[in-house]
Amino acid sequence: MQRPAILGGPRSVPDAKPVWPKIDAATLQEIERVLTTEPLCPVGNTGIQGEFENRFAAFHGRNFALATNGGTAALMLSVHGSGVQPGDEVIVSPFTWGASISCALQCGGIPIFADIQRSTFALDPDAVRAVISERTRAIVVVHLFGGPANLNALRGIADEHGIALIEDCAQAAGGWYDGQRLGTIGDFGAFSLQASKNLTGGEGGILICDDREMFERAMSMGTHPQRLFAELTLPEFQQRIDSLAFNYRMHTTSAAIAKGQLDHLDQWTDMRNDNAAKLYDAVKNFDFLEIPEIPNQTSTSKHAFYHMPFIYRPGVLPIDRDLFCRALSAEGMTAEPYVRIPFHLRPRIQNHDYFGRGYPWSLADSPPRYQRGDCPVAEEICEVEFQIKDPLHEECSDVVAGMVEAFRKIENAAEAIAAAASEVVEFDLAERTKGWD
Ligand SMILES: Cc1ncc(COP(=O)(O)O)c(C=O)c1O
Repeated sequence: MQRPAILGGPRSVPDAKPVWPKIDAATLQEIERVLTTEPLCPVGNTGIQGEFENRFAAFHGRNFALATNGGTAALMLSVHGSGVQPGDEVIVSPFTWGASISCALQCGGIPIFADIQRSTFALDPDAVRAVISERTRAIVVVHLFGGPANLNALRGIADEHGIALIEDCAQAAGGWYDGQRLGTIGDFGAFSLQASKNLTGGEGGILICDDREMFERAMSMGTHPQRLFAELTLPEFQQRIDSLAFNYRMHTTSAAIAKGQLDHLDQWTDMRNDNAAKLYDAVKNFDFLEIPEIPNQTSTSKHAFYHMPFIYRPGVLPIDRDLFCRALSAEGMTAEPYVRIPFHLRPRIQNHDYFGRGYPWSLADSPPRYQRGDCPVAEEICEVEFQIKDPLHEECSDVVAGMVEAFRKIENAAEAIAAAASEVVEFDLAERTKGWD
């Protein structure tokens, strides 16, 4: 039996892994050009920022794009642009990054949690239907890990009820659903360009939208009056131009980095899909793993594979999920659970404690109380999900093979790992695992 790295053995995954983000010579040149020839603080659809916004909008076939300083800002402006006002309800997922929920809170929206689907990790349309009320103003759907949510059903629900659909594409640049790029079926698509994301500027974000009124409403809350004077066309928003809005502008270097990446995004996404398919296929027969079904993976729908999710079947191996992930990480990869506590069970949400004084829940006649059991799928998934976070955007069969080897080694050595982990006192690793190699 081979000794696993967590017990002092050699790592299975080669050190030479794809490097992310990719900052190539052309990007460095573009950064230099921008820093030496353009204003460092553009306040309009001009220069590198304008080029990036226009290319991003065209890439997605949308009329409008607004660059921001982060995905959180792009989401919050999307919620505002959707017309959410303080006291309105916004349907959100409990299994996500908090910004998919705080974007509603920041607009005074009251989050209403709907459960997720076990296959997509995204909002379950039936669960969304069950929590819609006459106070619902928007749905924020997250394409978690880059996997497309069930957008046809969610779009249908939004249209039926006259409410907005916002796609949180922070993890999903490069993904497709039913022949359309993710971010183009909702009223808004909001992307993060933070350093780990599939398309990155180091930091930054961008929103896309097709509707002028929604776009102008979003922009009016997030940028400089000079830009608003130049670009807002609707009297409703022109009348409100001043410097009271948030400053959510993007830095020029972010645009310089991200713009060039658009040329490679599709190729990187295909490679991520290839590598994910190989890895899933190679580990699918391990009893202790459940491979997500990924139902929307068809010729016209594509996962963006920001991360690769797995479900760890409890009780099959004598080690728990967290120790399993530590053992995988010791082998030279990055494996960890995503959300440990679903958001509807977090103290700040349970205690209505966000801005203070119970706002925005205090605006409701009978503010929602969130309870265990509200979202049973999400609650269970938090206990069993983990993800591989390594960037797999290049051909790297040796890395994938190393990962498969890591799974195998840990399965074989699970008893020994469990025994070592249960030792309270220091023990001699070499002595305990003599004769393994
Ligand atoms: C699903 C999701 N939404 C929103 C965000 C926020 O993006 P940013 O960090 O760029 O503000 C993230 C960031 O990781 C995310 O994963």
